[in-house]
Amino acid sequence: MTSSLLIEVSAAVADGIAAADPALTGADPLVRPSERADFQSGAALALARRAGRPPGELAARVAAQVRPGVLADVRVSGPGFLELTVAADAVWRRVAGRVARPDLGLPRGEAGRRVVIDYSAPNIAKEMHVGHLRSTIIGDCLARVLARLGADVVRQNHLGDWGTQFGMLIQYLDEQPGAAWRHDELAGESSVSALDRLYRAARARFDADPGFAGRSRARVVALQSGDPATIAVWREIVAESEAAFRQLYDRLDVLLTPADSAGESFYNERLAAVVDELTRAGVAVVSDGAVVVFSAHEVGPDGAPVPLILRKGDGGYGYDTTDLATLRYRVRELHADRILYVVDARQALHFRLVAEAARRAGWLPSGVEVVHVSFGTVLGPDGRPFRTRAGDTVTLGSLLDAAVDRARAVVAEKNPSLDPAAADSIAELTGVGAVKYAELSTSRTKDYSFDVDRMVSFTGNTGGYLQYAYARIAAILRRAEGEPAPVVDPAADLHPAERALGLALDAFGDTLADVAATLEPHRLCTYLYDTARAFTDFYEACPVLTAPEPRRGNRLALCRLTAATLREGLALLGMAAPERM
Ligand code: ARG
Repeated sequence: MTSSLLIEVSAAVADGIAAADPALTGADPLVRPSERADFQSGAALALARRAGRPPGELAARVAAQVRPGVLADVRVSGPGFLELTVAADAVWRRVAGRVARPDLGLPRGEAGRRVVIDYSAPNIAKEMHVGHLRSTIIGDCLARVLARLGADVVRQNHLGDWGTQFGMLIQYLDEQPGAAWRHDELAGESSVSALDRLYRAARARFDADPGFAGRSRARVVALQSGDPATIAVWREIVAESEAAFRQLYDRLDVLLTPADSAGESFYNERLAAVVDELTRAGVAVVSDGAVVVFSAHEVGPDGAPVPLILRKGDGGYGYDTTDLATLRYRVRELHADRILYVVDARQALHFRLVAEAARRAGWLPSGVEVVHVSFGTVLGPDGRPFRTRAGDTVTLGSLLDAAVDRARAVVAEKNPSLDPAAADSIAELTGVGAVKYAELSTSRTKDYSFDVDRMVSFTGNTGGYLQYAYARIAAILRRAEGEPAPVVDPAADLHPAERALGLALDAFGDTLADVAATLEPHRLCTYLYDTARAFTDFYEACPVLTAPEPRRGNRLALCRLTAATLREGLALLGMAAPERM
């Protein structure tokens, strides 16, 4: 089975082009979905000059040469477009072929490719903020989609678990033995928020008390030189924080596991070699006692080339060195073909510099693609960066709680007869789903505003709308439960609403391939939303269970394929598809 009607139609038009003018063999048939027919080809316009004919004439020749089969009608329109109508039996054949397969006949275009995805990456002893939420949700969706298409996905959670700030925090904890921060000492508060609070207190003490500042610096040295007592506390801080992150990961139902954690400290033993290699390659130079790489392209506000700092004057390594080490490790040891960094847009310059240095050092073979999958800022309803009234960044837990609370009210209104336990679990699943969907459905490069009311609404392009659409189809299918699998008759006629739904369903694989190429999950959201609406139009126009055969079987197959598509699509977004709502 080829993977879509779009691909079959493209092949038919490509054959027509080659038959009309053999010199054009192999040209892109430029087939796209169309408003005026099922598909449209702009090839004649693009190829007219090469063919030495006016586009209208070339289009007419191609139209005459397209063999009947998948296409029932080929018509020239406008200055030389081809409007293409798919044969009814071809639509039914595709429905029949796909509904029978557990994999829905989806393509495996990413097979054989290893993709490393760096996402989530919160900082130890600090609250995760909404930027980490975006990274977590977008990265997780990309991991799911790429894996679904056959890629060998390696997840990397680049935790911020190293740096001089830990010296200060560990020293402070040492001097405040009564301070509670381990999960078993806390009532309600998470370990990360306790540690975040204690770190801020440590910082204030550091600025105010030179004695403490000196002891903190000594503690940094102890940490870096592997002093066992200091390392033991650091390990515990990391473990407590990771456990708190994990609670959020569980609630968000993301794929990240402890095995995916490769934090900054993981690269410590590789940093000296990174600096050495870059120095020997002549890419890194010594400047003011530090080892740096000056960019060949990027200049700062003063017109001077921007540096990456590899080793500070005092011998310390930082974020820049670590990221050079990640790139080198991912190419050499993880054998990545594609490396994605799902990190907010403010770090764009950093990733350009890292990629540039790696390229100059010869670390990036030409087949390896490095992409900063960047995203914008989350804004509050007032259009300013999202904060609490007190001006703090909002914690993720409280944000999800707010969405779930709101969802509980929406669910109660929609279905007052649900028992409280069921209502609670549906509220959790739609509330969390609403946050994820809101995140994924906007173009990731844009800033988006966090508007809980809009997110949990069941109307418009929202997570709740899709989950509800799925539950409705599930209810229809329950009424045909126990029946043998519907038999599709390709010779049956095709209602326009059946055609629209059939074509929409068929584009699932094309859409996933598009998400894999552009790394833009919102394309999947738009697709699912359009498909759910095509289903509504179909269901209004075409009775299913009461229709006579062969219509009933064909329509039931459409219902089943729609349900399977929405379920799979929601799963790829990392969302649950409830059978009842
Ligand atoms: N921990 C960093 C932060 O919170 C994000 C790390 C992203 N990944 C990377 N390889 N730099 O900003």
